[in-house]
Amino acid sequence: MIRRMVTNPMPQFPAGFLWGVSTSAHQIEGAADVREPSVWDVFTAEPGRVKDGSTAAVACDSYHRYHEDVALLAGLGVDAYRFSVSWPRVDSPGGLDFYDRLVDALCAAGVRPVVTLFHWDLPVALDWLERDTASRFADHVSVVAERLGDRVAKWITLNEPAEHTLLGHALGVHAPGRRLMFDALPVAHHQLLAHGLAVRALRAAGAGDIGIANSHGPTWAASEKPEDREAAEFYDLLLNRLFSDPVLIGRYPEGIGELMPGDVEADLKVIAEPIDWYGINYYAPTRVGAPQGAEIEFGGLSFPAELPFTVREIEDRPVTDFGWPVVPEALTELLTGFAGRYCDRLPPVLITENGCSYEGVDDQERIAYLDGHIRALHRAVEAGVDVRGYFVWSLLDNFEWAEGYARRFGLVHTDFETLERTPKASYTWLRDLLRAQR
Ligand code: FCB
Repeated sequence: MIRRMVTNPMPQFPAGFLWGVSTSAHQIEGAADVREPSVWDVFTAEPGRVKDGSTAAVACDSYHRYHEDVALLAGLGVDAYRFSVSWPRVDSPGGLDFYDRLVDALCAAGVRPVVTLFHWDLPVALDWLERDTASRFADHVSVVAERLGDRVAKWITLNEPAEHTLLGHALGVHAPGRRLMFDALPVAHHQLLAHGLAVRALRAAGAGDIGIANSHGPTWAASEKPEDREAAEFYDLLLNRLFSDPVLIGRYPEGIGELMPGDVEADLKVIAEPIDWYGINYYAPTRVGAPQGAEIEFGGLSFPAELPFTVREIEDRPVTDFGWPVVPEALTELLTGFAGRYCDRLPPVLITENGCSYEGVDDQERIAYLDGHIRALHRAVEAGVDVRGYFVWSLLDNFEWAEGYARRFGLVHTDFETLERTPKASYTWLRDLLRAQR
């Protein structure tokens, strides 16, 4: 079945469709000694936080080896490279010079820079529980836009505020490691406010083509039982509405606004500042059922008993090395559902991340995963969803947060001893696919 799918010719995407790959600063740059610390440096220094005990102090050392990475991008033939600027590096003397050089190198190689302004590596002195962090972010954005704005193709305000809230502040398994459960909601609100203020700051600096990268995925109820459906609906609200309703329609899902701090109505006007496109990070759907009265382990995470839902296994599906189910058609379901819900409030969509973790350089499973997902994306385009681009996570094997170096999402293998990069079978496959699309 998989073989047949892979050998069928890939349908043609519309002209101008943007093909790219994504990374983030903390996961690839290294060179932690020449920047200010972030909450992730503090978190990884605490014993037991990262599964293999590693840190991102060196990671892929892209700070020093960015020329190699740009050559890999050029060889792959992508239109665009999505990377993030590290806020603590921008705050360090000469920190912006690095991004200046990187952007120049990308432009010289004919690869368009797509910049994420926040991908979880918050400066240690800041805290998303504080409202003021939102305006500090807008100041940071102005500094970056003024320096790089003449060459950056697209801007992404935030990466996955949902995961940063849930994993970092509610469950405590990512930095800054707080386990606040529902008291983490202000973190969501302040990031959304930061997004809206950043859109304004970018426009004020003359920058355009602005989006956000939110994570979404279909939520499937474990059964038709009312308690399972109710739990799934709640999870769906957290993942698929809490961070999109405010941005796209200027309001919180019912019952949520009252729980948020500050003048929520006024803030929502800022949060709903129009954007040019909407970024979706998609990996897998989630099967959700009623709480089972006990802490459960799932997908490398432990979910406390007091949560009003439990995440369940999706049976009869292959899983990646990370245990994430491989369900390509759920991407079509997600996109058609999203377009149906938001209608003309949804600007053009870009898939800002999609990918999988597998061992090995002859990574046929990754090829099958990407092939299936790109076809599923094409079905969404055929169904009328205005999708304008697709970015693979990730260019390189890198520091996968609390998993350390144990998860390999790259099209290119990284040897973390020698830092040597070796393109995998999936790199060559994607290169050929992109050539055939042109
Ligand atoms: C996403 C993150 C990205 C990477 C992938 C695997 O949630 O945005 O940094 O870790 O998952």
